[in-house]
Amino acid sequence: MTVEATQIAATRIAQAGVEAVDAVATLAELTALETTLLGKKSELSMARRSLGSLEPDQRREAGAAFNATREALGAAIEARRSELAAAEHRASMEAEALDLTRFIGPVNRGHVHPVTATRERLEDIFIGLGFEVAEGPDLETDWFNFGALNIPPHHPARGMHDTFHLDLGGPGDYVLRTHTSPVQIRHMRAVTAERGGPPIYAIMPGRVYRNERTDATHLAALHQLEGLVIDRDITLGHLAGTIDTFIKTYFGTEFETRFRPSYFPFTEPSAEVDMRTAGGDWLEIGGCGMVHPTVLRNGGIDPEMWSGFAFGFGIDRLAKMRHDVPDIREFVANDVRFLSQF
Ligand code: PHE
Repeated sequence: MTVEATQIAATRIAQAGVEAVDAVATLAELTALETTLLGKKSELSMARRSLGSLEPDQRREAGAAFNATREALGAAIEARRSELAAAEHRASMEAEALDLTRFIGPVNRGHVHPVTATRERLEDIFIGLGFEVAEGPDLETDWFNFGALNIPPHHPARGMHDTFHLDLGGPGDYVLRTHTSPVQIRHMRAVTAERGGPPIYAIMPGRVYRNERTDATHLAALHQLEGLVIDRDITLGHLAGTIDTFIKTYFGTEFETRFRPSYFPFTEPSAEVDMRTAGGDWLEIGGCGMVHPTVLRNGGIDPEMWSGFAFGFGIDRLAKMRHDVPDIREFVANDVRFLSQF
């Protein structure tokens, strides 16, 4: 080993080392490289250890060359370290940045189904008139759906309802309710139990089921809004006035209503309700009448002291008319192109 050879080696180690330091891309790689270049097993450390074979002043000279290499590498590593640290800091700041001024377009939130919206609007109107809202079960006993409403077994009026019978318990014990009128009975009994009896001003919205063919104006599962008023001296005039007020509030004052004589076992007298805009065609929207004394009695109410009226409207039909929907089946097709128009 000559001094000259060690000087050449020191220069080569320094050059190669600085190049490697500049090529490193991350702080972790730099730390690994630092060990390779300056650690106990590095080429530099090994070369230094071999200086023992030189004369003392040659050794000093060669040692100085290796020290210079060591310093050069150390300085290059520190410079690269602060460069990489700055770059990593910048990258993480960019990744975490939040632009609070960035505009995100309108969010499509969706909305309630048009039939639900109609039901809620109808509830609001009647709550505004002083009515309360009551509900009953979709699965009913034969007695609540028919018997209590003055429709005993084999009564011909059962033929008006195409009933879904359920195979639970005895034959003919349970049905999917064919109308919301059974809730009249449940509500009369609840009111009698809870506050001793009438007055009652209530609406009872809900889903009802009919085992019949669907078409543009009929659904097999539809929604009804039942109304029940029981107080002293209630007359047919109160019924007509309530329905007319409700129709004008929901559709507009240019709409009018009429009664056509009809028959329901649970009301006497009974009527069908039609509506139209001035000059337009009459359209049937439901049935109504004065509550039959037998029905009051089945609800636990004395017909000698109280009288009342009831009505039942198709909510889907009201929604169909309000929004000019040509086919009522659109409401259950769940096509977003239809639903998103509301
Ligand atoms: N329940 C009757 C029907 O579904 C409607 C109605 C309700 C008639 C209340 C009179 C009184 O057809």
